[in-house]
Amino acid sequence: MRSPLGVNNHRKEMKMRVGILGSGDVAKALGRGFVKYGHDVMLGTRTPDKLADWAAKNPKGRVATFAEAAKFGELIVLAVKGTAAADVLRAAGAENVARKPVIDTTNPIADLPPSNGVLRFFTSLDESLMERLQNEFAGARFVKAFSSVGNASMVDPEFKGGKPTMFICGNDDAAKKTVTGILDQFGWEIADMGKVEAARAIEPLCMLWCIPGFLRNDWVHAFKMLA
Ligand SMILES: NC(=O)c1ccc[n+]([C@@H]2O[C@H](COP(=O)([O-])OP(=O)(O)OC[C@H]3O[C@@H](n4cnc5c(N)ncnc54)[C@H](OP(=O)(O)O)[C@@H]3O)[C@@H](O)[C@H]2O)c1
Repeated sequence: MRSPLGVNNHRKEMKMRVGILGSGDVAKALGRGFVKYGHDVMLGTRTPDKLADWAAKNPKGRVATFAEAAKFGELIVLAVKGTAAADVLRAAGAENVARKPVIDTTNPIADLPPSNGVLRFFTSLDESLMERLQNEFAGARFVKAFSSVGNASMVDPEFKGGKPTMFICGNDDAAKKTVTGILDQFGWEIADMGKVEAARAIEPLCMLWCIPGFLRNDWVHAFKMLA
């Protein structure tokens, strides 16, 4: 049976119209993953030419503007540079993201070099990027996810240590249920950290994740919650 958000009762069979805002590595990797799992995918960008290769390799996926992709999606993925996230949502149109789950993959990375491998953020520990976005686009149902792992491991992650954990948060339980279904389909364990304020803790995991990369060129790892 299909719900109004297109979520089947059986998670593995979920099929949704997914509008992905972005043309970078995250948008392309998640776009491939959504196509692989049978979803209808549209990527949005200011410069569709950038995605010509992606479109050729993923003939089932479509490429359009930010606004067209947001309008198309019943599920939205925000996969753009943190400094541009609010501008991209404005270009997408608040009305096109209202009432929809929005997977927020972004990190508030400042345009400054890392210090000894530690990224610099433009937010503080008292206000995350996702809180800023949730405040401005109050109708959208943001869920933080995919922000603290490299794009190569976002879909079907394979680690000797077993299934990694994706930390998520957001104010809307129905949106988190939808995102949990997608994460389960993509091969993740899910740890729900609560409401939007938890993004203050989840976003900096990206700093931790990147340190071995900047210091030792080791970019293949993920977090796991042990109990
Ligand atoms: N790379 C990773 O493995 C990884 C992993 C986890 C989380 N993240 C986070 O995921 C997000 C996407 O990362 P990414 O590496 O795929 O791409 P990125 O290089 O951080 O961002 C590229 C996207 O940002 C948009 N953009 C940049 N400046 C803009 C501006 N001034 N106005 C409007 N749009 C602008 C681009 O739009 P156009 O398409 O129009 O050019 C493009 O779609 C980031 O927030 C990043 O921190 C990245």
